[in-house]
Amino acid sequence: MRSANEGSKSEISVGVFGGRGYTGRELLELLHRHDGVEVRFATSRSDAGEPTPIPGLDFVDPESAPVSEVDVTFLCLPHGTAVPWVARLKGGPKIVDLTADHRPGSGREEGAVYGLAEPNRELVKDADLVANPGCYPTGVIFSLLPLERAGLLDRERLTVINAASGVTGAGRTPKPELLFAEVAGNFRAYGEGNRHRHLKEIRVLLPELSLLFQPHLLPVPRGILETIVVPVRDGVGATEVRAAWMEAYRGAGAVRVLGEGIPDLSQVVGTDRLALGVTEVDGVAPPVVTVVAALDNLGKGAAGQAIQNMNLMFGLPIDRGIRC
Ligand SMILES: NC(=O)c1ccc[n+]([C@@H]2O[C@H](COP(=O)([O-])OP(=O)(O)OC[C@H]3O[C@@H](n4cnc5c(N)ncnc54)[C@H](OP(=O)(O)O)[C@@H]3O)[C@@H](O)[C@H]2O)c1
Repeated sequence: MRSANEGSKSEISVGVFGGRGYTGRELLELLHRHDGVEVRFATSRSDAGEPTPIPGLDFVDPESAPVSEVDVTFLCLPHGTAVPWVARLKGGPKIVDLTADHRPGSGREEGAVYGLAEPNRELVKDADLVANPGCYPTGVIFSLLPLERAGLLDRERLTVINAASGVTGAGRTPKPELLFAEVAGNFRAYGEGNRHRHLKEIRVLLPELSLLFQPHLLPVPRGILETIVVPVRDGVGATEVRAAWMEAYRGAGAVRVLGEGIPDLSQVVGTDRLALGVTEVDGVAPPVVTVVAALDNLGKGAAGQAIQNMNLMFGLPIDRGIRC
């Protein structure tokens, strides 16, 4: 075991709860390639005794996970199930919780640091419990927070977020509406009327904005594209928006601000980066700009950002072991 102030002398020992799911599997693949990490266990109740994606490591039942042997655990569990684990692990390993259980707006955020890896990096360094951000909120908050802080937004008008996620965003537990025959060749909105739970998390970070958040299910395995119609103050255009992002994300290898044009999924799927682009909009007054954020829901939207948070908690370079 090692502590944060031991620098990068030894390996961080790691355990993953929920290693059979989509985020857990992605995380195991990344951790296996990370040169500062040793994975000691990965849990699954249904696949206990079966091989994990890491050669020589089999899944164990969560009840028999050797938690005292690890420096940090990742909770890749369904919502609601992280709470009892956090209580049981208290005083033990550090925790990166990928569920929504301790995120802003959950009512249980006390004692947890919100792991927006680049904006909150100083806070994450000292955290024992990190609430890893949701996949949709990552794109929205990384897009809008620098613009809000720079005073570029017209708060009186509505910001419209049209978001679409690939099917892995819904997790691996079978559901009828996620059958191939329902999803393939189809495209649909859900959580309409501002009812998606991620909006709560976004609103805590952007309390002054009036937001309409409309998610869609995209018939691809992975990837999130968010097209945001952003009301800006007079005189603000794409140049000012890019400048605010560049200022906020200077030196951030996982956040790519496009010099021109807008990103698409092919630029981010299978990576841990977030790509941001902006265009001006003709014929609209007062002015708006269109911001497009693209990320992989399992990468920067989950496992990639979780690894960044672990790196920060143990004094490693933020982007070590991720694909940016
Ligand atoms: N999918 C995404 O794109 C994404 C992005 C960001 C955040 N998240 C969040 O990350 C978490 C995991 O998502 P996911 O998509 O990986 O889910 P998932 O594919 O459904 O996997 C959940 C995992 O948890 C295990 N599990 C289920 N109930 C459990 C319990 N009561 N105790 C212990 N283990 C249990 C399951 O394996 P066994 O049943 O075999 O134990 C499985 O390995 C969720 O909270 C999700 O909202 C997901």
